[in-house]
Amino acid sequence: MKYAKILGTGSCAPDKILSNKDFEKFLETTDEWITSRTGIKERRVAEEGINTSDIAYEASVKALEKANMPASELDGIILGTISPDFIFPSTACILQSKLGCGNIMAFDLLAGCSGFQYALHVGNGMVCSGQSKNLLIVGAEVISRIMDYEDRSTCILFGDGAGAAVISQSDEPGIISSCMNSDGANWKLLYMPGGGSRIPATEESVKNRDHFLKMNGKDVYKLAVKSLKTASVEAVERANLKPEDIDLFIPHQANLRIIEAVRKRLDMPEEKVYINLEKYGNTSSASVPIALDEAIRAGRAKKGDIILTAAFGAGFTWGATLFKL
Ligand code: COA
Repeated sequence: MKYAKILGTGSCAPDKILSNKDFEKFLETTDEWITSRTGIKERRVAEEGINTSDIAYEASVKALEKANMPASELDGIILGTISPDFIFPSTACILQSKLGCGNIMAFDLLAGCSGFQYALHVGNGMVCSGQSKNLLIVGAEVISRIMDYEDRSTCILFGDGAGAAVISQSDEPGIISSCMNSDGANWKLLYMPGGGSRIPATEESVKNRDHFLKMNGKDVYKLAVKSLKTASVEAVERANLKPEDIDLFIPHQANLRIIEAVRKRLDMPEEKVYINLEKYGNTSSASVPIALDEAIRAGRAKKGDIILTAAFGAGFTWGATLFKL
């Protein structure tokens, strides 16, 4: 049997830091409120002129270096994002050109904050079927460009960043199980009204602030806890493993309270859960690959470890992936 194995990871966070204290200067909020409700202390914001493809490129170069693979050996790029450079062409195509790889398949995938999980799922299928040999899977966001900095219930949560992984065909176990889900009936819980065919850009849509992300935080919270838990349990069971077999759990870094609730429901010890949201906030589709890359570089995730990743996001989408590093 053939597996898709992660050979290398990379990540990139823009230098500029926006701290909770910075928000106090222009919003009716406090560091105390944000920290106690979310666990987030600061997030990164891309400077003007730095776009999603730029940070995706930085993360991808590092992932290729770790995988010891030249870009010319890639045969596909799948990039999850909700804040692409443009609606079209795809950011994956811009990345393909920046990396200077061949005229390979390259496409964006839209699954909200589950974007990287979904991209990994599709990539896993392509690699295991023999359709592809080496794929670059990316989650990248300059989500600050669609943030309403007058809406204190959303703008404090999100930050910019990118993460990438090179997956290749292998005889040894890599991705062992992968479960993705959606529930489109809940699309209104988290979305951006403007810019698509329903509400194209007009003076009115700009005045209505339709080109910014909108969210029903309370309902998203409830669904997030339920879906993260369900997907994680399913991925572990499909792999014929038990929760105690997991060496490291890397959940979507949206909110510390959500992670804690899921950790308790999975009966997982604190030291087996990787958390970095205090530094980056919710970087949407980049959150899991950034955390995975950091965990590997810090020695928290080692070769041979069993890793469980899980995410949820707009759509509503959710999913979990279990793999041997
Ligand atoms: N600072 C201070 N007060 C704030 C605030 C802020 N940044 N944001 C909201 N509030 C206020 C609200 O206006 C509300 O005031 P009111 O009671 O006078 O109406 C009060 O705080 C409580 O708001 P509520 O929405 O009940 O807070 P909460 O405990 O649900 O926390 C979130 C809000 C957004 C942190 C929480 O719902 C959440 O994390 N949801 C999940 C979001 C998520 O993960 N999204 C990403 C999905 S990929």
